[in-house]
Amino acid sequence: MAVVESSTNVVLGGARGGPDVATLRKDRWWLQPVVTVSVLTAFVIYSTWAAFQNKNYYVGALLHRDLISPFYSPCLSSRCVPGSTSGFAIHGWTLSPALLILIFPLGFRLTCYYYRRSYYRAFWWSPPACAVSDAHASYSGETRFPLIMQNLHRYFFYAGLVFNVLLSYDAIRAFRQPGLGWGVTVGTLVLCANAVLLWLYSLSCHACRHLCGGQVKSFKAHPLRYRFWKFLTPLNAKHMNFAWASLVFVALTDVSFAWSPRAH
Ligand code: FES
Repeated sequence: MAVVESSTNVVLGGARGGPDVATLRKDRWWLQPVVTVSVLTAFVIYSTWAAFQNKNYYVGALLHRDLISPFYSPCLSSRCVPGSTSGFAIHGWTLSPALLILIFPLGFRLTCYYYRRSYYRAFWWSPPACAVSDAHASYSGETRFPLIMQNLHRYFFYAGLVFNVLLSYDAIRAFRQPGLGWGVTVGTLVLCANAVLLWLYSLSCHACRHLCGGQVKSFKAHPLRYRFWKFLTPLNAKHMNFAWASLVFVALTDVSFAWSPRAH
């Protein structure tokens, strides 16, 4: 029997960017972009300042604590505050040790599918909201440099997992109270909550879900992947919540060090 191929031509009307009237929406559609711009700008300004200040990131044995800020962990420079390194040290690095590591968590967030959607909308107005005109007349997607680099997300995801393991280790170390034994302090709880939120953010990642359940023709042949996929899917539905919660909390965790008179 001959196969009849058919196609329907679809013609979209109007120029990209929409009609002269930006939108007919009467609600406060602009609120979400404004909040996104405000929170992300505040985070970038604060994290840049915190990364360059090169102090107030460790509370150590003198105070019977072993607490390190997530912005500086792992502390890899030989000039790190005594007690804050975990063995390996790079000699000759004179800048802030935070600058050695922040590219990984930053790259992970910057290339995140959810954040991309958010900052494309909020900063580029491309488009700013549903049923609101795009601010740009042309669109090339993520097919050219630099946006094609967004495809690195899955590799940043792997790096993010390594950092989650390290920050979980820091959270466990935070139960140590040198000179006293083991115990729980406010710092312990803060580092534990931070590690949990970062795990939730990573495990709810779209790349993670694809890694477990993608390119599988039948889950019957992959029962383990099916279990992971079933576990991750409800987390994935809440990725946006985990993205914001972990972002704000990791900044607040560092704030608790930056403004602590006992931190070095
Ligand atoms: S999609 Fe957001 S972290 Fe991967």
